[in-house]
Amino acid sequence: MRTYRKLLTRSSAVGAVALAAFSLQPGAAHAAPAPDPSGSVHTKVVGGTKADQGEFPFMVRLSMGCGGALYAKDIVLTAAHCVDGSGANTSITATAGVADLEDSHAVKVNSTKVLQAPGYNGKGKDWALIKLAKPIDQPTLKIAENDKLNNGDFTIAGWGADKEGGDQQRYLLKATVPFVDDATCKKAYGDQLTPGDEICAGKLDTGGVDTCQGDSGGPMFRKDDGGQWLQVGIVSWGEGCARPGKPGVYSEVSTFAANIKKAAGELG
Ligand code: ARG
Repeated sequence: MRTYRKLLTRSSAVGAVALAAFSLQPGAAHAAPAPDPSGSVHTKVVGGTKADQGEFPFMVRLSMGCGGALYAKDIVLTAAHCVDGSGANTSITATAGVADLEDSHAVKVNSTKVLQAPGYNGKGKDWALIKLAKPIDQPTLKIAENDKLNNGDFTIAGWGADKEGGDQQRYLLKATVPFVDDATCKKAYGDQLTPGDEICAGKLDTGGVDTCQGDSGGPMFRKDDGGQWLQVGIVSWGEGCARPGKPGVYSEVSTFAANIKKAAGELG
Protein backbone atom coordinates (compact mmCIF):
# COMPACT_ATOMS: atom_id res chain seq x y z
CA MET A 1 0.00 0.00 0.00
CA ARG A 2 2.81 2.38 0.81
CA THR A 3 4.69 1.74 -2.40
CA TYR A 4 1.40 2.07 -4.20
CA ARG A 5 1.04 5.58 -2.91
CA LYS A 6 4.45 6.48 -4.26
CA LEU A 7 3.27 5.64 -7.75
CA LEU A 8 0.80 8.46 -7.71
CA THR A 9 1.75 11.49 -9.73
CA ARG A 10 1.25 14.82 -8.06
CA SER A 11 -0.09 16.58 -11.10
CA SER A 12 -3.02 14.33 -11.90
CA ALA A 13 -6.26 15.56 -10.43
CA VAL A 14 -8.05 12.65 -12.05
CA GLY A 15 -5.66 10.25 -10.35
CA ALA A 16 -6.24 12.05 -7.09
CA VAL A 17 -9.91 11.31 -7.26
CA ALA A 18 -9.67 7.77 -8.62
CA LEU A 19 -6.99 6.75 -6.14
CA ALA A 20 -8.19 8.83 -3.23
CA ALA A 21 -8.64 5.86 -0.92
CA PHE A 22 -5.17 5.64 0.70
CA SER A 23 -3.65 8.55 -1.05
CA LEU A 24 -0.90 10.72 0.33
CA GLN A 25 -1.41 12.87 -2.73
CA PRO A 26 -1.59 16.60 -2.28
CA GLY A 27 -4.39 18.53 -3.88
CA ALA A 28 -3.94 19.22 -7.57
CA ALA A 29 -1.51 22.12 -7.85
CA HIS A 30 -3.39 23.89 -10.56
CA ALA A 31 -6.93 23.32 -9.43
CA ALA A 32 -8.93 26.50 -9.70
CA PRO A 33 -10.06 27.80 -6.33
CA ALA A 34 -13.63 26.91 -5.54
CA PRO A 35 -16.20 29.63 -5.91
CA ASP A 36 -16.94 31.77 -2.89
CA PRO A 37 -18.51 29.43 -0.36
CA SER A 38 -19.60 32.26 1.95
CA GLY A 39 -23.30 32.30 2.42
CA SER A 40 -23.45 28.56 2.05
CA VAL A 41 -23.70 26.51 5.20
CA HIS A 42 -22.93 23.30 3.35
CA THR A 43 -19.40 23.65 2.08
CA LYS A 44 -16.64 23.27 4.22
CA VAL A 45 -11.50 20.80 5.44
CA VAL A 46 -14.61 18.21 5.53
CA GLY A 47 -17.31 19.10 8.03
CA GLY A 48 -15.76 22.43 8.99
CA THR A 49 -16.47 26.13 8.80
CA LYS A 50 -14.64 29.16 7.45
CA ALA A 51 -11.75 30.46 9.51
CA ASP A 52 -11.66 34.18 10.20
CA GLN A 53 -8.98 36.37 8.64
CA GLY A 54 -6.05 36.29 11.09
CA GLU A 55 -7.42 33.42 13.17
CA PHE A 56 -4.57 31.04 12.25
CA PRO A 57 -1.86 33.47 11.08
CA PHE A 58 0.78 30.72 10.86
CA MET A 59 -1.12 28.88 8.11
CA VAL A 60 0.54 28.66 4.70
CA ARG A 61 -0.75 27.42 1.35
CA LEU A 62 1.93 25.85 -0.84
CA SER A 63 1.80 25.99 -4.63
CA MET A 64 2.04 22.22 -5.17
CA GLY A 65 -1.36 21.95 -3.48
CA CYS A 66 -0.42 21.38 0.15
CA GLY A 67 -0.70 23.18 3.45
CA GLY A 68 2.04 24.11 5.89
CA ALA A 69 2.73 26.12 9.00
CA LEU A 70 5.38 28.74 9.75
CA TYR A 71 7.92 26.98 11.95
CA ALA A 72 10.10 30.08 11.68
CA LYS A 73 9.39 33.29 9.80
CA ASP A 74 11.33 31.91 6.85
CA ILE A 75 10.76 28.16 7.31
CA VAL A 76 7.55 26.23 6.58
CA LEU A 77 6.89 22.85 8.18
CA THR A 78 4.95 20.58 5.82
CA ALA A 79 4.68 16.90 4.84
CA ALA A 80 7.50 14.90 3.22
CA HIS A 81 5.05 13.58 0.64
CA CYS A 82 4.38 17.14 -0.52
CA VAL A 83 7.96 17.60 -1.76
CA ASP A 84 10.17 15.69 -4.19
CA GLY A 85 13.36 15.41 -2.17
CA SER A 86 15.98 17.63 -0.59
CA GLY A 87 18.14 20.38 -2.01
CA ALA A 88 18.01 23.77 -3.67
CA ASN A 89 14.48 24.45 -4.90
CA THR A 90 13.01 27.75 -6.06
CA SER A 91 9.85 26.25 -7.55
CA ILE A 92 7.51 26.40 -4.56
CA THR A 93 5.48 29.49 -3.71
CA ALA A 94 4.16 29.94 -0.19
CA THR A 95 1.08 32.10 0.26
CA ALA A 96 0.56 33.46 3.78
CA GLY A 97 -1.20 36.09 5.80
CA VAL A 98 -4.67 35.44 4.41
CA ALA A 99 -7.65 33.17 4.90
CA ASP A 100 -8.86 34.06 1.38
CA LEU A 101 -6.20 33.00 -1.13
CA GLU A 102 -7.40 35.71 -3.50
CA ASP A 103 -7.13 38.48 -0.93
CA SER A 104 -4.92 41.27 -2.33
CA HIS A 105 -3.04 41.32 0.99
CA ALA A 106 -1.72 37.79 0.42
CA VAL A 107 2.04 37.55 0.94
CA LYS A 108 3.71 35.27 -1.62
CA VAL A 109 7.29 34.12 -1.15
CA ASN A 110 9.25 31.54 -3.11
CA SER A 111 11.27 28.68 -1.68
CA THR A 112 15.04 28.51 -1.79
CA LYS A 113 15.62 25.05 -0.31
CA VAL A 114 13.72 21.94 0.69
CA LEU A 115 14.68 19.43 3.34
CA GLN A 116 12.70 16.19 3.23
CA ALA A 117 12.81 14.05 6.39
CA PRO A 118 15.97 11.96 6.26
CA GLY A 119 15.09 8.35 5.51
CA TYR A 120 11.57 9.16 4.27
CA ASN A 121 10.31 6.23 2.19
CA GLY A 122 6.54 6.70 2.17
CA LYS A 123 5.84 5.10 5.55
CA GLY A 124 6.05 7.35 8.61
CA LYS A 125 8.52 10.26 8.83
CA ASP A 126 6.13 12.42 6.84
CA TRP A 127 7.63 15.84 7.48
CA ALA A 128 9.69 18.33 5.50
CA LEU A 129 10.96 21.89 5.82
CA ILE A 130 10.85 24.57 3.15
CA LYS A 131 13.21 27.53 3.44
CA LEU A 132 11.79 30.77 2.10
CA ALA A 133 13.58 33.50 0.15
CA LYS A 134 12.58 36.04 2.80
CA PRO A 135 10.88 36.04 6.18
CA ILE A 136 7.09 36.39 6.40
CA ASP A 137 5.89 38.82 9.04
CA GLN A 138 3.37 36.52 10.72
CA PRO A 139 3.41 34.60 14.01
CA THR A 140 4.98 31.15 13.94
CA LEU A 141 3.42 27.95 15.32
CA LYS A 142 5.26 26.29 18.18
CA ILE A 143 5.74 22.53 17.81
CA ALA A 144 5.13 19.94 20.52
CA GLU A 145 8.42 18.73 21.97
CA ASN A 146 6.92 15.91 24.04
CA ASP A 147 3.75 13.83 23.95
CA LYS A 148 2.04 15.45 26.95
CA LEU A 149 -0.56 17.24 24.87
CA ASN A 150 -1.01 14.53 22.22
CA ASN A 151 -4.59 14.05 23.36
CA GLY A 152 -7.91 15.84 23.63
CA ASP A 153 -9.52 17.82 20.85
CA PHE A 154 -7.45 19.14 17.98
CA THR A 155 -7.99 21.91 15.47
CA ILE A 156 -7.37 21.21 11.78
CA ALA A 157 -7.33 23.77 9.00
CA GLY A 158 -6.63 23.89 5.30
CA TRP A 159 -7.63 24.86 1.78
CA GLY A 160 -8.03 21.24 0.66
CA ALA A 161 -11.10 19.38 -0.54
CA ASP A 162 -14.31 19.81 1.43
CA LYS A 163 -15.33 16.23 0.64
CA GLU A 164 -13.79 13.13 -0.97
CA GLY A 165 -13.12 14.07 -4.56
CA GLY A 166 -14.12 17.66 -3.82
CA ASP A 167 -12.54 20.91 -5.02
CA GLN A 168 -9.67 22.79 -3.43
CA GLN A 169 -10.97 25.77 -1.49
CA ARG A 170 -10.44 29.50 -1.84
CA TYR A 171 -11.22 30.18 1.83
CA LEU A 172 -9.43 28.53 4.74
CA LEU A 173 -11.65 26.00 6.48
CA LYS A 174 -11.28 24.78 10.06
CA ALA A 175 -12.73 21.97 12.16
CA THR A 176 -12.24 20.15 15.45
CA VAL A 177 -11.40 16.44 15.68
CA PRO A 178 -10.88 14.26 18.76
CA PHE A 179 -7.69 12.25 19.40
CA VAL A 180 -7.87 8.54 18.51
CA ASP A 181 -5.43 6.28 20.38
CA ASP A 182 -2.94 4.05 18.55
CA ALA A 183 -4.65 0.76 19.44
CA THR A 184 -7.96 1.97 18.07
CA CYS A 185 -6.33 3.49 15.00
CA LYS A 186 -4.46 0.24 14.41
CA LYS A 187 -7.82 -1.52 14.22
CA ALA A 188 -8.73 0.76 11.34
CA TYR A 189 -5.43 0.58 9.47
CA GLY A 190 -3.42 -2.44 10.67
CA ASP A 191 0.23 -2.35 9.64
CA GLN A 192 -0.27 0.67 7.43
CA LEU A 193 -0.13 2.68 10.62
CA THR A 194 3.30 3.50 12.06
CA PRO A 195 2.25 4.22 15.65
CA GLY A 196 5.36 6.03 16.95
CA ASP A 197 5.49 8.25 13.88
CA GLU A 198 1.77 8.83 13.51
CA ILE A 199 -1.11 10.16 15.59
CA CYS A 200 -4.74 9.68 14.58
CA ALA A 201 -7.76 11.92 14.99
CA GLY A 202 -11.34 11.87 13.83
CA LYS A 203 -14.90 11.08 14.77
CA LEU A 204 -14.78 7.29 14.75
CA ASP A 205 -18.47 6.59 15.15
CA THR A 206 -19.95 9.10 12.79
CA GLY A 207 -17.13 10.30 10.54
CA GLY A 208 -18.07 13.56 8.87
CA VAL A 209 -15.14 15.73 10.03
CA ASP A 210 -11.61 15.35 8.66
CA THR A 211 -8.81 16.79 6.62
CA CYS A 212 -8.78 15.73 2.97
CA GLN A 213 -6.73 15.92 -0.25
CA GLY A 214 -4.88 19.23 -0.40
CA ASP A 215 -4.77 19.67 3.38
CA SER A 216 -1.60 17.57 3.56
CA GLY A 217 1.34 19.22 5.20
CA GLY A 218 -0.90 21.53 7.17
CA PRO A 219 -0.85 21.54 10.95
CA MET A 220 -3.09 19.83 13.49
CA PHE A 221 -2.89 21.87 16.68
CA ARG A 222 -4.38 22.61 20.09
CA LYS A 223 -3.90 25.06 22.93
CA ASP A 224 -1.08 24.39 25.37
CA ASP A 225 -1.39 24.96 29.10
CA GLY A 226 -0.60 28.63 28.61
CA GLY A 227 -3.34 29.06 26.02
CA GLN A 228 -0.91 29.22 23.07
CA TRP A 229 -1.41 27.22 19.87
CA LEU A 230 0.83 24.16 19.75
CA GLN A 231 1.33 21.94 16.70
CA VAL A 232 0.89 18.24 17.47
CA GLY A 233 0.40 16.84 13.96
CA ILE A 234 1.02 17.27 10.24
CA VAL A 235 -1.77 16.20 7.85
CA SER A 236 -0.55 12.97 6.24
CA TRP A 237 -3.14 10.44 5.04
CA GLY A 238 -6.36 8.53 5.58
CA GLU A 239 -8.65 6.12 3.80
CA GLY A 240 -10.94 8.45 1.93
CA CYS A 241 -11.98 11.45 3.97
CA ALA A 242 -14.25 11.65 7.00
CA ARG A 243 -15.41 8.04 6.70
CA PRO A 244 -16.75 6.50 9.92
CA GLY A 245 -14.15 4.14 11.44
CA LYS A 246 -11.35 5.68 9.32
CA PRO A 247 -9.64 8.48 11.26
CA GLY A 248 -7.22 10.95 9.71
CA VAL A 249 -3.55 10.07 10.17
CA TYR A 250 -1.08 12.81 11.09
CA SER A 251 2.69 12.85 11.56
CA GLU A 252 3.34 12.86 15.30
CA VAL A 253 5.25 16.10 15.63
CA SER A 254 6.63 15.42 19.11
CA THR A 255 8.42 12.34 17.77
CA PHE A 256 10.29 14.45 15.24
CA ALA A 257 10.68 17.69 17.19
CA ALA A 258 14.39 17.25 17.81
CA ASN A 259 15.03 16.28 14.18
CA ILE A 260 12.97 19.21 12.92
CA LYS A 261 14.89 21.62 15.14
CA LYS A 262 18.20 20.27 13.97
CA ALA A 263 17.15 20.32 10.31
CA ALA A 264 15.92 23.91 10.63
CA GLY A 265 19.29 24.88 12.06
CA GLU A 266 21.04 23.28 9.13
CA LEU A 267 18.81 25.09 6.63
CA GLY A 268 20.41 28.30 7.86
N1 ARG B 1 -2.74 12.89 1.55
C1 ARG B 1 -3.66 13.97 1.54
C2 ARG B 1 -3.05 15.20 0.94
O1 ARG B 1 -2.04 15.12 0.32
C3 ARG B 1 -4.23 14.23 2.90
C4 ARG B 1 -5.22 13.24 3.20
C5 ARG B 1 -5.76 13.38 4.56
N2 ARG B 1 -6.81 12.43 4.63
C6 ARG B 1 -7.59 12.25 5.66
N3 ARG B 1 -8.57 11.42 5.55
N4 ARG B 1 -7.39 12.89 6.77
O2 ARG B 1 -3.66 16.24 0.96
